[in-house]
Amino acid sequence: MVEDTPNNQENQKRSYHYTRDNQLKIKARQKVREAEKKAKQAKIKADKAKEKVKRLTKTITNSVVTEKDLNEAPKDIQRFMGERPIVFQPNKGPQTDFLASPEEDVLYGGAAGGGKSYALLADLLRYADSSNHRALLLRRTIAELTELIDKSRQFYPQAFPGAVFKESKSMWVFPSGATALFSYLDKDSDVTRYQGQSFSWIGIDEITHYPTSYVWEYLRSRLRTTDKGIVPYMRCTANPGGIGGWWVKKMYIDPSPPNTKFVATDIDTKRELRYPDNHAKAGQALFHRKFIPARLTDNPFLMRSGEYEAMLMSLPETERKRLLEGDWDVAEGAAFPEFQRSVHVVDPIEIPRSWNRIRAADYGYSSPSCVLWGAIDWDGVIWIYRELYVTKHTSDALANVIIELEKDDPKLMMSVLDSSCWNKTGLGPSIAETMIQRGVRWIQADRARIAGKIAIHRRLQLDPVTNEPRLKIFKTCTNLVRTLPTIPLSKVNSEDVDTKAEDHAYDALRYMVMTRNIAARDFIQDARLAREKEEKYNKIYDTTFGY
Ligand SMILES: Nc1ncnc2c1ncn2[C@@H]1O[C@H](COP(=O)(O)OP(=O)(O)OP(=O)(O)O)[C@@H](O)[C@H]1O
Ligand SMILES: [Mg+2]
Repeated sequence: MVEDTPNNQENQKRSYHYTRDNQLKIKARQKVREAEKKAKQAKIKADKAKEKVKRLTKTITNSVVTEKDLNEAPKDIQRFMGERPIVFQPNKGPQTDFLASPEEDVLYGGAAGGGKSYALLADLLRYADSSNHRALLLRRTIAELTELIDKSRQFYPQAFPGAVFKESKSMWVFPSGATALFSYLDKDSDVTRYQGQSFSWIGIDEITHYPTSYVWEYLRSRLRTTDKGIVPYMRCTANPGGIGGWWVKKMYIDPSPPNTKFVATDIDTKRELRYPDNHAKAGQALFHRKFIPARLTDNPFLMRSGEYEAMLMSLPETERKRLLEGDWDVAEGAAFPEFQRSVHVVDPIEIPRSWNRIRAADYGYSSPSCVLWGAIDWDGVIWIYRELYVTKHTSDALANVIIELEKDDPKLMMSVLDSSCWNKTGLGPSIAETMIQRGVRWIQADRARIAGKIAIHRRLQLDPVTNEPRLKIFKTCTNLVRTLPTIPLSKVNSEDVDTKAEDHAYDALRYMVMTRNIAARDFIQDARLAREKEEKYNKIYDTTFGY
């Protein structure tokens, strides 16, 4: 017999013959392989079991338990959990959907009393078991914030025994180390308070109290976490209407039907926000939004007695539609709905030196000062070509910046400033006088609010002959471009804008257009008024400063 060689006899199946030693070795190798396979399977089983134990332990020890976790747990654990006191359980329907939403940015809005604020307080706790959870919950005023803090005191300490509210910082600190800052933010400029900070959850209760989307958009830049176990979320609630109802509607309600996830859009251009072509994720959505409508009928806690519903039913129609039916279509609009970025905002051009130029300003120290420069072309169209938008500038400092910006400009035809800048607070010169002394000359602006608003409307209208507006704004004037389309109507006087809104650029623009009332063919009826205005200004600027 030949060792380990094939038997090549004709018509015989090929076969091998091994020595006994070799046969034993082969068998031993097979046994090792089988044992290794079994060990591998056992390890997979053990890992799965460990994972399950981990999940069950989490279900037992965590303060926030989802329905899914509970359903997956064995019966005895479900029974054990059932015996623990439930501190918060969402109402069926929208409140549950809101708390289970996976989209990055969700609005829970609609009828009053639907349980929106309560849901927001509960949603904040989503990751309160994680040490890196950093939440920021905002309201516009301190009084409204106090109401939220009081509500949070009702169930946070029970849900997370050991959680403490640090009054001095207005912050909840949870046993895990997670924190939740309860803060109020009134003016747009206050957002800088959060500069350099990061949050993994940001919420605003009653977001329509903000006249523009500025605060919300800014806070988006503060939303981040390095903890892979935490998904960052933006959450807000609102009743329809309010001074910010129009932009909230554009952001959450108009793009998609309710309860449907959609790609976030730019509220001005309506363009979907996606990664650019040159990006590795080209074409993918930057993030998603969703709108969940709230109904009073979904909140058994307020529906029970029926009194609250009866009260809402007794409201005047518009308010009733908003607060009882959660109707967004009756929300107030912007004061200048005719403003169109594609029509009124233009790329900068070289302004001919022969065009007359006007400077107009609204002064503020804590709130922004806005200075606008306009040039008038041969058709009488005002081109706003420069903007200065600064805070914390004394009149001296502002004058210095203006001098620097104008160093290569031709002579101005006129410059107007809010007349209150001539008010004196002490013995020294007024704000206007200080600037005039430094060489930045002004005359008092026409402060007629309603006439000023109408003058802007006229300028925004398209000329029936040229199909062009009579006001064009360089896209570099970012604050005017940002705030003019968003400024809301006043709640108390529908002829005027809301003076609580960010109106500094609007005021400066109003002063500017009031110096140049239109006497165009289609405004013959106003020609007399315009002439009177021209005469008035001719008189003032000729005699005072000799412009
Ligand atoms: N899941 C819940 N569990 C217990 N109580 C709840 C729950 N949801 C709402 N409530 C009760 O209903 C009340 C009204 O809810 P909430 O204040 O959240 O309504 P809202 O929609 O914010 O109202 P508004 O539109 O007036 O701001 C709460 O104060 C709370 O007492
Ligand atoms: Mg509320």
